[in-house]
Amino acid sequence: MTIFVTGGAGFIGSNFIFYMLKKYQSYKIVCIDKLTYAGNLSTLEPVMNYSNFRFVKLDICDRKGVYELFEEEQPDIVVNFAAESHVDRSIKNPEIFLQTNIIGTAILMDACRKYGNIRYHQVSTDEVYGDLPLDRTDLFFTENTPIHTSSPYSSSKASADLLVLAYYKTYGLPVTISRCSNNYGPYHFPEKLIPLMIVNALNNKLLPVYGEGINVRDWLYVEDHCKAIDLIIHSGIIGEVYNIGGHNEMKNIDIVKIICKELGKPESLITFVEDRRGHDMRYAIDPTKIYTELGWLPETTFAEGIRKTIQWYLDNQEWWEDIISGEYQNYYKKMYGNLEEV
Ligand SMILES: NC(=O)c1ccc[n+]([C@@H]2O[C@H](COP(=O)([O-])OP(=O)(O)OC[C@H]3O[C@@H](n4cnc5c(N)ncnc54)[C@H](O)[C@@H]3O)[C@@H](O)[C@H]2O)c1
Repeated sequence: MTIFVTGGAGFIGSNFIFYMLKKYQSYKIVCIDKLTYAGNLSTLEPVMNYSNFRFVKLDICDRKGVYELFEEEQPDIVVNFAAESHVDRSIKNPEIFLQTNIIGTAILMDACRKYGNIRYHQVSTDEVYGDLPLDRTDLFFTENTPIHTSSPYSSSKASADLLVLAYYKTYGLPVTISRCSNNYGPYHFPEKLIPLMIVNALNNKLLPVYGEGINVRDWLYVEDHCKAIDLIIHSGIIGEVYNIGGHNEMKNIDIVKIICKELGKPESLITFVEDRRGHDMRYAIDPTKIYTELGWLPETTFAEGIRKTIQWYLDNQEWWEDIISGEYQNYYKKMYGNLEEV
């Protein structure tokens, strides 16, 4: 079994690679990653020398390169994590989001069609459902909730989802889609809320919180997300969408206060900044379908997950310091010299 994991040098993709290599020692995992600012090859260092792991620096929008790799490796399954993933960046510059998130998805699926109707899984997000009002805690996103996006990021992800479903209906490509809530855990790039707050707090820097910090997100420990995707690619029903979420809704401000408390830092570090444009108020996933059909439930509570995450950032200071200094972007060159992309 050969699995292509795109975007595997990023946050969730790298956690997924570690999880899969540990669980399925006979599988070969090929990681495809362009190494954008969000990709960090040093993250994959622990598995780089595994005989059943291969890293390929490649843009999923490079049709020729993608086809050549499919031809060479003949994958059985493709799991697409590769994306531009930061909402704020999508507000500043939408175009790259359309390229990678939509065109890149289409190219991967074209390759799946061309090389033998290969099983394809799209890693999507709960953000495609838009937001829910804060005062309607009885409402949750189900797989039947209409797509209703707010940011260029979520619109690009929603477009990709529609394309994936179209490839299923039009060409019979064996696809599944998962739409997950906010993840947190090791190797999370420190521009996102939880790692940013941890890293800033450790450096005694201000903790910038959008608006009044009352926006609600449903947080899931990244390993639980990886387990859900593992289940879907092995047992999910073709053509189906699965929501993944932890029923763990929290206000941003409460998360930041927990981080201050865990690190013994004063809440006076918290500073409220101008709200993000089009900032969604509340996300909340109803994960009934994946529970009843595939038996998935989150295993890590938030209290446990946030402690593990904070401890990871304490133990892996060099990893995030290299990101802050920009040094991580030299890693590929340092390790592989001028080795060309495929
Ligand atoms: N982080 C979350 O909370 C969350 C929640 C739900 C869904 N998702 C989805 O999960 C996926 C992974 O998210 P993440 O948080 O790990 O993102 P990330 O930004 O940490 O990682 C993205 C990875 O994709 C790579 N990449 C970007 N453009 C590429 C391209 N054109 N070709 C090849 N590689 C490219 C980057 O180098 C990086 O390694 C995304 O599709 C995202 O939409 C994320």
